Amino acid sequence: MADRKSKLVAVCGKGGVGKTAFTAMLSKVLMEKEEAGRLLLIDADPANGLTMALDAQVKRTMGEVREEIIAASRQATKAEKHQLTEMIDYMVLEALTEHEKYGLLAMGRSESKGCFCPVNSLLRGMIEELSENFDTILIDGEAGVEQINRQVVRRLDSLIIVSDATSRGLQTAALVKHMVEQDKVIKCGSLGLVLNRVQANEDLVKRAAEEVGVDVWGYIPQDENVAYHDLVGKPLTELPADSPAMAAVSEIVERVVLRT
Ligand SMILES: Nc1ncnc2c1ncn2[C@@H]1O[C@H](COP(=O)(O)OP(=O)(O)O)[C@@H](O)[C@H]1O
Ligand SMILES: [Mg+2]
Repeated sequence: MADRKSKLVAVCGKGGVGKTAFTAMLSKVLMEKEEAGRLLLIDADPANGLTMALDAQVKRTMGEVREEIIAASRQATKAEKHQLTEMIDYMVLEALTEHEKYGLLAMGRSESKGCFCPVNSLLRGMIEELSENFDTILIDGEAGVEQINRQVVRRLDSLIIVSDATSRGLQTAALVKHMVEQDKVIKCGSLGLVLNRVQANEDLVKRAAEEVGVDVWGYIPQDENVAYHDLVGKPLTELPADSPAMAAVSEIVERVVLRT
């Protein structure tokens, strides 16, 4: 179980709804908040979207470290294998990159079959270990509900479901709610919904979101600055603070994220 000291926040939702854009903007806001303390960002999408949205460098992904562990174990004698098991924690630490304002762990991909240490369990171990060194841990999840199913973390302080204004996005939100509240797949301090890319349809979206039955933590407008930054590959952390989407995320941080 991760240390209670650190605050664990994860972002989930259907693919393409803006999880990564939201997480990048949330990171930017938290980097500037003293209350958030030392920040660890986890890019838990194998496609490394968050790493790209931050324009950050990672030395190695956890998937790459896993490949190295598997390759080493194939060549190891029995005694060496035992040693290797003890070294895994240390090896995995190599996937942590420390930046000035945050630490970053990218999950990456790992194709090799091997009974030992699937990336998700490595990540789970890492989060538990690192929670002592960071005050806020923010996870940009993979699309869909698989990671929640596989219990990449066992407890979260907040789970933020991002949805766009589509019924499919909201259905995924309803499924996450069910998994958390009925199936109790994961222990969650609080669960909230963030509606992204909201245009003139706010009232309609509001009503549809109410049917999901999850607290709506905020609305983020469709913002051409976000689209532009993503198009030209400019980090979303460089969005101007008065950019409408960034201002909406700031407001969600003040009103909800820092208080839950
Ligand atoms: N508020 C927004 N305004 C404009 N474009 C957005 C907004 N949020 C996300 N996008 C765009 O939507 C696309 C998908 O966003 P992304 O964050 O990659 O989704 P996900 O991580 O959920 O798959 C990206 O091209 C991104 O630029
Ligand atoms: Mg993403």
